[in-house]
Amino acid sequence: MSDQHLAGRAALVTGAASGIGRAVAARLEDAGMSVLAVDLQPDPDGPGSPFQANLIEPAANAAAVAAALARFGRLDLVVPNAGVQHVAPVEEFPEERWQSIVALLLTSPFLLAKHAWPALREADSGRFVAIASVHGLVASPFKAAYVSAKHGLIGLIKTLALEGADAGITAVAVCPGYVRTPLVEKQIADQARVHGLPEEDVLEQVILAPHAVKQLIEPAEVADVVAFLAGPSGRAFTGVPVTMDQGWSAR
Ligand SMILES: NC(=O)c1ccc[n+]([C@@H]2O[C@H](COP(=O)([O-])OP(=O)(O)OC[C@H]3O[C@@H](n4cnc5c(N)ncnc54)[C@H](O)[C@@H]3O)[C@@H](O)[C@H]2O)c1
Repeated sequence: MSDQHLAGRAALVTGAASGIGRAVAARLEDAGMSVLAVDLQPDPDGPGSPFQANLIEPAANAAAVAAALARFGRLDLVVPNAGVQHVAPVEEFPEERWQSIVALLLTSPFLLAKHAWPALREADSGRFVAIASVHGLVASPFKAAYVSAKHGLIGLIKTLALEGADAGITAVAVCPGYVRTPLVEKQIADQARVHGLPEEDVLEQVILAPHAVKQLIEPAEVADVVAFLAGPSGRAFTGVPVTMDQGWSAR
């Protein structure tokens, strides 16, 4: 139903060369949107090459927005999604990893909003749909930077919702539990080390332990939620986390 309203609109999706971002970009293109996929790395499996940008660098965020506007002449939807994880106890947590994770997960969405704001204001129903995490609502040990940045991202979303209200711009934070992507697969060895478990036990005993439903979420399911939020039926969702966490935060 919503898809016909997305056709002809333009979106910018970060971290679009893998996992959730790739699924979101593909879903929005299927709905007829023009999508600027932005990523640090090329995507040999994707439909076209992403606009390459290291979003830890502030100027790269302005450049990504400028590239979308140069290519499409408009911007209706921004999906800050690029992310990384680092698993370590707080006393061993490398300070440079803290800085780079906060730069990517929190400062990049802020800069994308700042630079895209005039275009979103001009759009009929501008949308800012960040991919946060259930870790924006609850914590887990050994993820100090990630949990802190995702909590901060929800604060940014609330602020943008208030600032965007009169201009018809909505801002939401999608908060998934664990999704089947390389970001989760890469954590298995680290989680095995810090929890003292064999790698084969990590998925069930650590990763899926907080899920009430012991299943990973699929990237396409997150992409469907983004498409819904970007469409007309999503208009009342603003300033809120949209939680899809297999019952994690119900505890
Ligand atoms: N996988 C999960 O379980 C899960 C759960 C909740 C939230 N999330 C969030 O979803 C988002 C996407 O995660 P994913 O699981 O798809 O990860 P992923 O590792 O599959 O993809 C992340 C993408 O971000 C890109 N990226 C990393 N650093 C970058 C940088 N400096 N500049 C530009 N691009 C960069 C990577 O190249 C990669 O293509 C992240 O924000 C993550 O925190 C993931």
